[in-house]
Amino acid sequence: MRTQIYSYLVIGMSGVCLYFVIGGSPQLDLLLIIAFSVLSIVTELLSQRLLGGGSTSLAFSVYLAAVLLGGPIAGVIVAAATSLSADIYSGKPWYRRLFNVGQLVISAAAAGTAYHQLGGEALYFVEAPPDNSFAWFLAAITAAVLFAAINAAFVSGALVLATGESIRSVLSDVFSYTKGLPLAAMLGIVIAQLVAIAGLPYLLLLLAPFLIARQTFMIYQRQQHTYMDTVRSLVAALEATDPYTSGHTQRVAAYARSLGERMGLGDVELRRIEWAALLHDIGKIALKNETLCKPSSLTEDEYSEVKKHPQVAANILGEVDFLGDITPLVASHHERMDGKGYPLGLVGEEIPLAARIITVADAFDAMTSCRSYRSTASVEEAVLELQKATDGHLDPRCVEHFVAALNAGIINPPRLKADGEPNA
Ligand SMILES: [Fe+2]
Repeated sequence: MRTQIYSYLVIGMSGVCLYFVIGGSPQLDLLLIIAFSVLSIVTELLSQRLLGGGSTSLAFSVYLAAVLLGGPIAGVIVAAATSLSADIYSGKPWYRRLFNVGQLVISAAAAGTAYHQLGGEALYFVEAPPDNSFAWFLAAITAAVLFAAINAAFVSGALVLATGESIRSVLSDVFSYTKGLPLAAMLGIVIAQLVAIAGLPYLLLLLAPFLIARQTFMIYQRQQHTYMDTVRSLVAALEATDPYTSGHTQRVAAYARSLGERMGLGDVELRRIEWAALLHDIGKIALKNETLCKPSSLTEDEYSEVKKHPQVAANILGEVDFLGDITPLVASHHERMDGKGYPLGLVGEEIPLAARIITVADAFDAMTSCRSYRSTASVEEAVLELQKATDGHLDPRCVEHFVAALNAGIINPPRLKADGEPNA
C-alpha cells in the first residue's frame, strides 16, 4: 500500500513537471525525438538482455544526449517512450510502470532545466557551437549528475518501501549498479556533440558499437546456457544422494523467486535468488548417507555435521567464478533474525535479504513436502508455523509477503498425494 501511494505521488509530480516542460519548450523536432527514442529503445532492450536488467547505462547516454540536443522536452519524451516500451511485456502492475516513467520524466525534466539555467542551449537548434566550451561542459555534467542522482533517489525510495530494507543497505545496492554512469555520461556528451556538429544521419555511426554489442550478447547467451547446465548438474548430484530432497530445490527456487518478485526486487537479484535457492543445500553432498536419510532424530554429533553444510556449500561454490555472487546467500540460508542461526550467527539485516527470502521458501517447502524424519504439514499448518517463526527465526516482512503471495495464488505449492509426496 505504501509503495502504491509513493508511486502515485511520483506519477503526480511527473505530471506537474511535464506541464511546465511543455509550457517552457518553444522548439520541438519530431525527427530528433523519433530517432533518439528508437535508439534508446534498442539500447535498453540490448542492455536488459545483455546484463539481465541490471544496467540502464546505455539508455542513460541516449537520454542525456536527447536533453543536451533538444532540451528537457526531448529528454522527457525519449525517456518516457523507452520506459513504457521496456515494460510492455513485463506484466508489472500499471502503477509500477507509470512510476518508472514518472521518475524518469522528473529526472529528465530536472536535468534539462538545470542545463538550461546554467546557460546550456539545445544544441540541435543553435547555429554555432557554444562560445565557452568549459562552461557548456560544466552545464552538461551537472545535467548528467542531477539526472542520475534523482533517478537513484526515486528507485531507492521504492525499494526501501517495497522490501523494508534500511536506506543504507538499499543505497549501497543501487550505487553498485551506477558504476558505469560516468562513462555513460561521457558517451551521452559525445553523441550530442556528434549530432550537433555532423547532423542526425550520423547517429547511424552508432550502429557499429551496437552490432558488436549484439555479437557479445550471443556469446553471453551461450555462456549463460553453459552456466545453467552446470547448476543443474550440481543439483542433480545432490538429489541423487537424497531422494527426499528430489524436487525440493526447484520448488524452493520457484517460491523464492516469486517472493522476491512480489517484494519488488530487480531481475539481477531475482536471478541470484533463483540460483542460490537451487544450490542452497549442495553442501549436503558431504554428509554421510545414513545421516542424510536417517528416519529418526539426529544425534548431537550428526547434527553438528549437518550444521556444516552451508559452509561446505560456500567452499564448493566459492571455487566457481560465475557463482561467486551467490555464495554469501547459500552460506547464510540457516541464519536466524535473532542471531541464533548458523554458521556465523548473523543478526537481522546482517543476513542478506535474498538469503532471508530463501530461508522462508525453504522452511515452507520443508514443512509441506515429505521428509524421512517427519510427516507433511498442510499449507494452512505451514503458514501458521511460518507466522510463529517470525518471533526470532524468520524475517517478518518476508513471511508477510510470502503469505500474501500464497493467498493471491502467486505462489502455488503442488497438491500432495495421499502419502505426502508432491504430485509435481
Ligand atoms: Fe540447508
